[in-house]
Amino acid sequence: MMMPIMNIIGNLGYVVVCVVGAHQAINGRITIGDIQAFIQYVRNFQQPIMQVSQISAQLQQTMAAAERIFGFLDEQEIPDEVSDEEAADPEVVTGAVRFDHVHFGYDPEKPVINDFSATVAAGQKIAIVGKTGAGKTTVIKLLMRFYDVDSGGILLDDSDIRRFKRNDLRSLFGMVLQETWLYNGSIADNIRYGKLEATDEEVKAAAQVAQADHFIQTMPDGYDMKLNEEASNVSQGQKQLLTIARAILHDPKILILDEATSSVDTRTEQHIQKAMDNLMKGRTSFIIAHRLSTIKNADLILVMDDGDIIEQGSHEELLAANGHYAALYNSQFADVA
Ligand SMILES: Nc1ncnc2c1ncn2[C@@H]1O[C@H](COP(=O)(O)OP(=O)(O)OP(=O)(O)O)[C@@H](O)[C@H]1O
Ligand SMILES: [Mg+2]
Repeated sequence: MMMPIMNIIGNLGYVVVCVVGAHQAINGRITIGDIQAFIQYVRNFQQPIMQVSQISAQLQQTMAAAERIFGFLDEQEIPDEVSDEEAADPEVVTGAVRFDHVHFGYDPEKPVINDFSATVAAGQKIAIVGKTGAGKTTVIKLLMRFYDVDSGGILLDDSDIRRFKRNDLRSLFGMVLQETWLYNGSIADNIRYGKLEATDEEVKAAAQVAQADHFIQTMPDGYDMKLNEEASNVSQGQKQLLTIARAILHDPKILILDEATSSVDTRTEQHIQKAMDNLMKGRTSFIIAHRLSTIKNADLILVMDDGDIIEQGSHEELLAANGHYAALYNSQFADVA
């Protein structure tokens, strides 16, 4: 409101000068030149006031931003972290995961996961499928402890994930998520984020496995190419390849791929698939994919719907059962058949 109000006051000033001035000039008390001079004075007077109003607008923006920053600083630091003595040891984790009657809702009133139970042996490849919004990503978020379960529990090698320190827990996982996350820096730095002490050769090797090496070579500065703030100077699929390279470099005990190859063309996907299969050997991995052809060889497929597991088994078992999964699978290959 400041600027328009100042403008109106300034313009009213002109009007007053003109009217009063005209009256005086007609009566012969001042000359036209005096009016002209007065208008000039009014302008000089008005200018600093306008500047003050501009600054006050900036001050208000600053106050609003500062409020958010202080809100963030006041946020409690990880409130329910376990103490050093009580914390479970992440070194001994083999990768067996058990979901025990997990119940969770972002809003406690509206549960997203109703009663999710599944047992995963170490080294197994688990696929989670289901329609959009079924709660697949939510299960992963719970596993990584971005959110805590409302009831039930998630166990890693028989110790509840709440007994691990968050840092330790997350260092066990490597993940490639639906939303890729890259930051302003060179391509090599972005890949190296998976393992900060990695050498250039290791970074390159990881990129080769992820089929990203080829496109990086064609970039203007290769591995030194700077990604901009939103990483919009590489394509969506290329971003995914970079995050896959990062996960490969990280070499985690448990691998999570949430639609990791959704933006990559089918041929590149097949290439990555081979690399991934090597990577997943002997490693527990969770794979979420809408293209069911990519998860056919999973040890266990969990079919989710509205936060519940409605079917589980291997690809052949589920096809033979001729239920939800079979319908989903056949719908993707209807054109081929
Ligand atoms: N941060 C959030 N806050 C509140 N509700 C959320 C949040 N994230 C997801 N949801 C809700 O939880 C439900 C499950 O979401 P989720 O992301 O797990 O689906 P999904 O199975 O991964 O789907 P997609 O196949 O599209 O990735 C959805 O109904 C969604 O609206
Ligand atoms: Mg999802």
